[in-house]
Parts: sequence; C-alpha cells; structure tokens
Amino acid sequence: MKWICSVSFAVALALQPAFADDNHGQHPLTPEARDAFVSNLLQKMTLDEKIGQLRLISVGPDNPKEAIREMIKQEQVGAIFNTVTRHDIRAMQDQAMQLSRLKIPLFFAYDVVHGQRTVFPIPLALAASWDLDAIATVGRVSAYEAADDGLNMTWAPMVDVTREPRWGRVSEGFGEDTWLTSEMGRMLVESMQGKSPADRYSVMTSVKHFAAYGAVEGGRDYNTVDMSPQRLAQDYLPPYKAALDAGSGGVMVSLNSINGVPATSNSWLLKDLLRDDWKFKGITISDHGAIKELMKHGVASDPQDAVRVAIQSGVNMSMSDEYYSKYLPNLVKSGAVSMADIDDATRHVLNVKYDMGLFNDPYSHLGPAESDPKDTNAESRLHRPEARDVARKSIVLLKNRNDTLPLKKAGTIALIGPLADSQRDIMGSWSAAGVASQSVTVMQGIKNATAGKATLLYAKGANVSDNKGIQDFLNLYEKAVTVDARTPQQLLDEAVETAKKADVVVAVVGEAQGMAHEASSRSDITIPPSQQALISALKATGKPLVLVLMNGRPLAIVKESREADALLETWFSGTEGGNAIADVLFGDYNPSGKLPMSFPRSVGQIPIYYNHLNTGRPYDPARPNKYTSHYYDAENGPLYPFGYGLSYTSFTVSPVTLSAKTMPRNGQVSASVTVTNTGKLDGATVVQLYLRDQVASVSRPVKELKGFKRIMLKAGESQTVTFPVDVKALKFWNAKMQQVAEPGKFSVMIGLDSVHTSDAEFNYL
Ligand code: NOJ
Repeated sequence: MKWICSVSFAVALALQPAFADDNHGQHPLTPEARDAFVSNLLQKMTLDEKIGQLRLISVGPDNPKEAIREMIKQEQVGAIFNTVTRHDIRAMQDQAMQLSRLKIPLFFAYDVVHGQRTVFPIPLALAASWDLDAIATVGRVSAYEAADDGLNMTWAPMVDVTREPRWGRVSEGFGEDTWLTSEMGRMLVESMQGKSPADRYSVMTSVKHFAAYGAVEGGRDYNTVDMSPQRLAQDYLPPYKAALDAGSGGVMVSLNSINGVPATSNSWLLKDLLRDDWKFKGITISDHGAIKELMKHGVASDPQDAVRVAIQSGVNMSMSDEYYSKYLPNLVKSGAVSMADIDDATRHVLNVKYDMGLFNDPYSHLGPAESDPKDTNAESRLHRPEARDVARKSIVLLKNRNDTLPLKKAGTIALIGPLADSQRDIMGSWSAAGVASQSVTVMQGIKNATAGKATLLYAKGANVSDNKGIQDFLNLYEKAVTVDARTPQQLLDEAVETAKKADVVVAVVGEAQGMAHEASSRSDITIPPSQQALISALKATGKPLVLVLMNGRPLAIVKESREADALLETWFSGTEGGNAIADVLFGDYNPSGKLPMSFPRSVGQIPIYYNHLNTGRPYDPARPNKYTSHYYDAENGPLYPFGYGLSYTSFTVSPVTLSAKTMPRNGQVSASVTVTNTGKLDGATVVQLYLRDQVASVSRPVKELKGFKRIMLKAGESQTVTFPVDVKALKFWNAKMQQVAEPGKFSVMIGLDSVHTSDAEFNYL
C-alpha cells in the first residue's frame, strides 16, 4: 500500500535522538516490561509531577503556548490536543524533553473522526457502506496522516448507538444498530492502531463517549440518559466493548448522566464495569470540562468535591480544565483522596505513553525537523483515490423513478442548490485538519465528469436557510455559510429559469455541515423551508428532478421524496465527495449503500428503529384495529427503513436454507441464501441476516441484525452467501441481568434490507 511503502523506516530509525537517562532507551513493548518500568518511574515522581500527568490541555486562547511552556517545564501537563503540525508538536515535546526534571514525554491527540488531511465521508456515511474493507482503508489512511502530523492519539471512534435523528451527533456515529456499530468501531480500532500504536504510522484510539451518549432525551445534546439496565447492556454497551476487545487504548467518558449518575462520577461504569468486568487496562479521559460540570449536574458541591468524585470514580485524565491540578494536591494532603487513587490514575497515563512507544522514542511520530513537510497542506499528502472510492460506496440511492439515474453525459444539466458548490459543507463536521479549498464540490465533480460532453448551468436557488437565527448559529465560530443577499423570490426565479433551459435538473439540498454537529440538535428534521420551496418550484417545471441530499442525520422528507424522480443520499462525503457523487450520477459507479438509520416520516415518530419490541398490541396495516399500537394520524413505519438502498441493477434473494433445523446447546447452524443479479449492470449489494427469538423470558425485538456481507455480482451472476449462527447471536440480558440463550424457536430472516426478507426457523435445544 502506498502509505506504507513510501516510508523509509531505516532512515527514521537512524535519525532517532538518543536519551541517556534510564527513562528512555529501548524498552520491550510487553505488559510485564511496561509494568516494571512504570512502577519504577512512579517511585521517582513527586505528587505534583504525578498530578501534572493527569492534565490534558487544549492549546488555544485560554492556554497560549507561552503559558504551556512553563507548565511543561514544571511537569504540570501530561498531554496536549488541538495542535496538529509536526513543527508545533516538536516544539512542545522539546520542552518536555529538555526542560522538565523527569523528561516524561507528552502525548498529542486530536479529533481524527473521519480523516485527518484527507477528509473521508462522515461516520454515518461510512456505516452506509457496510463495507469493512472500506472502513479499514479509512482507518489506515487516517492513522497514517495523523501520525505523519506527529499525533499519537485520536478521539475516535465514536460508537454511540442512537435512535435520535434530532441529535446533531448522529453524524459522528454509525447509526441505530448495535451490531453494525460494533463492527465499524472494531475495524476502526484495528486499522488505526495497526499492530501496535507505537508503530510509526499508527495512532492509539480513544473510543467514545462512554456511555450511551446517543440516547440523550429528546435528542438534545448533553441531555439526560435514562434507560433500563437490559437495554443499556443489550443495545448500547456492546460497541464500546467491541472497540475495547479490539485493543483501544483509550476511553473518553461521556458528558451525560445515566440513570441519574453522570458518567464522569459513575464508579459503577468506570470501575465495576470497565475495569472489573471488562478488564480494561488503558486510560479513561473526561470529555471537555466534564469534571467542572459535575457541580451543574448537582452531584458535587464545589470544585474540590467535583475533583474528588471524578478521580475516585475512575476518571484518569482531565480534559480541558485545571481542576485536577488545582485541587488534587490539597485533597491528597487532607486525606480526602488517597495516594493510591493518584498512583492508579498516573499509572494509566504512563502506561499508554509506554504503549505508544514514547519512552523508546518521544519523537517517533515526529522525526527530525529536516523531515517536516514544507507545506503541511501539500496536495501530495492527501489520499484522494481512497477518499473517492470510500465516498462512492457510502452513497445510498433512495428512489429512482423510471430509471432517471444514471444520467447521460450529454445535453444540458441544470445544477441548482445552496450546497452544490460548497467546499466547506461537503467536508462535514469534525473535518480535522482538512482544508475546504481542497475539497471537490458537486459542481466540480460534474464538470470533471462531463467536460466537453454536456452543458452545465448553475443557479443557487435558495439560501441554506432564510432564518436569520439559524444563519447566525451556523456562522458563530467560522464563516461557514455565505448568505446570498438577493431575495428568496429572486433566487427562486433564477433557478426556475435555469431549470427550464435544461434536460434534467440536479438539485443539491439538505443541511449545512454545522446543522449536524456537536451542539447542533434540531427539533425539526425537515429540509429548511427555503429549500423546500425551491424543490417544489423545480418540480413544477416538469423537468426530471434529481435530488442530491447532503445531510448528517436522517431527514423527514416525505414531500421531497414524492416530488423527486430520483433521490440520492450523499451525506457529507468529504474531500473527494463531488467526484464520488458524479461517479454515481453518471453511472460510473453503481450505488450500493444501505441506510444505517431509519428515515422517519416526521419528527413525531421518533424514536423509530427497526429492532423494536412487538408490544402486546402490534398494529397490522392489513387488518387495522383502533386498539393497537399506532398513530391515527400517521403510519407506523419509516419512510425509508434501516438497511435500505437501491441499485441501478436488480437482485433477487432465494429462500433461506439452514444446515439443520435444530441447534444443539452451544452449537451452530448456518443459514444460506443465493443472491442473483437479475439486471443488466454489474453491482454490489449488502446481504443482511436478522434473527428473532420467538418466545423468551423477556420480550425480544421483532428482528436484530446479526451478520452482513457486501457482495459484488456481475449482471446475471449468482452467489450463495452463508452466515454461521452460533449461541453468541442468540444471547440476551434477562430480567435478572444474566446473559443467556434460552431454548426455543428462532426466526432467521435474510434480505437486502430490514423489511423484505426470506425467512426460516430453527429450534435451539
Ligand atoms: C467534546 C466532544 O464531546 C468530544 O467528542 C471531543 O472529542 C472533545 N470535545 C475534544 O474535541
């Protein structure tokens, strides 16, 4: 692979600086050697030096570089984040290595959530690829670029399962399903950490936000989480566990409370579960300012109390507040916090530094200054082919009336919409060190695809939103949205005139990237009214209408879905998004993405998710009955279900065959289907396995994803796909909080979405 071959490890090793003291040198990266080394180092440290290791600082206006320099010298800081160039990072590491007494290296972290210099599609889009090889590519490239910038750790993956499209952070996770999220998180950890986070082009991951942050009430960010222990264990915790089983060295603690206890003061979560049950050996880090927030949560009376509760509950490192440094010394002196608690937290920080290889070479991700890139944003540092490939795989075709798509590279195309030429929006939120001017918009992508073959006309048509409050919100921290000064009617008229001149209209509509981010919850998940009016006006021209959706959450798009002839969900698709979208629009790539979240018809249906319980009064649309569980003013089902996505070709799925009608205790059965590409084009699809425990001691979901496989079939080709099903897939948490697989009948459902499946059943003995 390009990024591995291009590195000269021999040169890097030869340039390694030498450290003469016994804290540095070549230490074997084994747990035994680490424990001995860290125990020895701890003995040499003063209380203040230990407490210093627990502080994670964000460089910025509150903490200017000069102030940090002094703190580093005094060994008052353990790690830094939000600094992303080798030059700046080296300067800080130099200070630690040259000025501090014990010369304990700093580690450097950043939110590498979907790429570093190259921006990949947002995580929700990555989940829509259902393609673990693509995820591995994202992980390797992101880790490579992050490590090449001198970073040691990333605040990723975010594996917060969510059924809340109102929550802006759905864009950062992998959707509503536990299994899919677990697989995505596992693969990202494996690919980012590689064989070892100490390797030159690996970084340590920090899985977040522990725990259940995706279940904030009403989808309002930072809000309360309250749920049954069964649901927590069954649906929300497994992805964190999967990421930790894959070796994630870090855990970021969530900002929410869980059943009344904030995660940051939750010793059951951070000690009993994480350390005792799950045997986690890495580091726990609070989220931004979370220790201070314990007072606002009402579980700490004052700063000292907040610090005491946090450290005693198992928060090792504090992010972006000075509380540990300020209050721990006296808390220890007064006996309110024990030295054992300090040693325990410090040990975890030193352990991960050891695992990052920093005691072998504090400059392992930096190299000598002469090796720094002349231009950190150089084009040569990007991985465009990988970004384009992953982006096309993440696009979901939701509707294609009369084969409107793919388009011909001929005639006149009217490209309309406020997002059609926005370099910033296509990158999505958390776009790390990505540079907007390097991203390819839909306009540029279409130009690249059709140059010399078709005529392209453009009109903006509408502002993202006409609401001044929303415009100001989106431009609060960066000038992210340009507001066109023309009146809505003028913009609309121009768009309609442009559309009338064309053979087909492609409208790029949806959300600005800032609408799907941290602190970007919405109570209304429709397309903003300015753009709705645009879509209706374009529809009225009678021209074939292709809607290219750009958004970071499921949207309620009943009307738009009716108006569109073709509907393409492209999410925020990253640096190469425009080229990838053009590939799909013109059929150079046959779409294969599948939704990782249900698309509701309206906000009133939330929470809506495919793996719900049946209830005692399930609604049957074929035999409507007033006293069953439904809305009288809306359908129960989503507009587009979980797992759904079309292709330019068609597929059939055979009936399920089982290797046996019974599964012995702790045994296995396998379930197979034959999938045939019955259309005229080659194409990929995702075969999905769902199970249902028909009768159990607790009510079990109507179906749960327990396996998937992405396959590529040539036109006319068939392939048999077999899923092994073992006892692990049958287990659930019963009313006594025991994880059990109960004997009885299980349904097996296999299909290309969560609704249309071929079914069979077996008996678990
Ligand atoms: C707060 C966010 O909740 C978290 O996800 C992020 O990693 C940190 N800020 C650092 O940027």
